[in-house]
Amino acid sequence: MSTRKWTIRACAGLALGLGIGIGVAGAQGFGERFGFGSAATPADIAKIDIDVMPDGRGAPAGQGTVDEGMRVYNDKCAACHGENLGGVKGTGAAPLVGGRGTLNSGKPKKTVESYWPYASILFDYTKRSMPFDSPGTMTDNEIYAVVAYILNKGNIIDKSTVMNAKTLAAVKMPNRNGFIFNPGGGGHRPDVRNYR
Ligand code: HEC
Repeated sequence: MSTRKWTIRACAGLALGLGIGIGVAGAQGFGERFGFGSAATPADIAKIDIDVMPDGRGAPAGQGTVDEGMRVYNDKCAACHGENLGGVKGTGAAPLVGGRGTLNSGKPKKTVESYWPYASILFDYTKRSMPFDSPGTMTDNEIYAVVAYILNKGNIIDKSTVMNAKTLAAVKMPNRNGFIFNPGGGGHRPDVRNYR
């Protein structure tokens, strides 16, 4: 047999051996205990299990009014999002209201008012990540209140609506039907027909 054939066989053997070796090592590593960390307790999980769904699932107890929300907003949000909710240049904080009807204008202005399909996202997002420089510091009542204020400023709810788990789920956002469900494409996606 020629040297070349031997070389080919040796290489094939080596590749096969390596493949099996990696496979076995992988199988051994799987499920192995490393002797550090501890099992998450229900309390650990509760701290991060805060998602609020469009139908109100996960929304906590509590409530807030538009007037209370104005005070919360001026105190904790206005520095970045602007007194009139139009955003402040240089902070990176987006305008929260306006832009309604612009989505298919060729120059879409996407805000909570014009773009977000469910009010639950506003509660969830605020609780999770705002104020930008101190997330996790607000009470649920403060979050309900500031959500009510923003939605009122966006002309989505009237001034007398008290925001709570039930009224949050009942809010009908202007772009509620602007998203389509695309199971093959990762779930809910903006309906491109609206953004030409
Ligand atoms: C220190 C500045 C700052 C403060 C204070 C702040 N935000 Fe923000 N906010 C930001 C920035 C920056 C972003 C953009 C974050 C990103 O794109 O990841 C943002 C994004 C948002 C968005 C998403 C807007 C969009 O259309 O994408 C919402 C809603 C929001 N903030 C609400 C609030 C509320 C409510 C408060 C007060 C409780 C608040 N923010 C306080 C800086 C701030």
